[in-house]
Amino acid sequence: MEKSNHPLVIKFKNNLDSNGSLVSLEELKNIPFELKRLFYIFNTSNDARRGKHANRNSEFLFICLQGSCKVNYFYDSTIHEVILDNPTTGLYLPKMIWKEMYEFSKDSILLVLTNTLYDKDEYIRDFDLYLKEYQEIYEKNKF
Ligand code: TYD
Repeated sequence: MEKSNHPLVIKFKNNLDSNGSLVSLEELKNIPFELKRLFYIFNTSNDARRGKHANRNSEFLFICLQGSCKVNYFYDSTIHEVILDNPTTGLYLPKMIWKEMYEFSKDSILLVLTNTLYDKDEYIRDFDLYLKEYQEIYEKNKF
């Protein structure tokens, strides 16, 4: 799978047999980046709203392994909403996308894969600053 500069919903192959299901993720094969880190979000209350930031360098793949949650993201001047409720579906977001995760079901486990090691300084947590930086990059045609 090639690298992407736009969001993607990716459907993974479910290796299903009489013993159950297995999904395999391989960098640049069925996920569009090199994998450096993963983290998972659980024990979330239904009214939790996570994210609310953009990342200057990190690309993300969100997979709800159990239960469900919603992700919205700002792309093409519009807020898009995706419901994640199946461990065979992933939402890929490139770098510099403002995102929010919410409406977690009680049992939800949200797995997040990314191409970077954690660096708090690559986070933009102010929406106006994000728009300004995005515009600057867009105008310079760096994407
Ligand atoms: P945060 O980015 O605020 O979570 P979310 O985007 O889901 O709202 O991270 C929560 C805390 O976890 C914060 O103290 C930073 C820490 N953290 C790490 O130590 N490593 C990581 O890889 C991530 C994503 C967060």
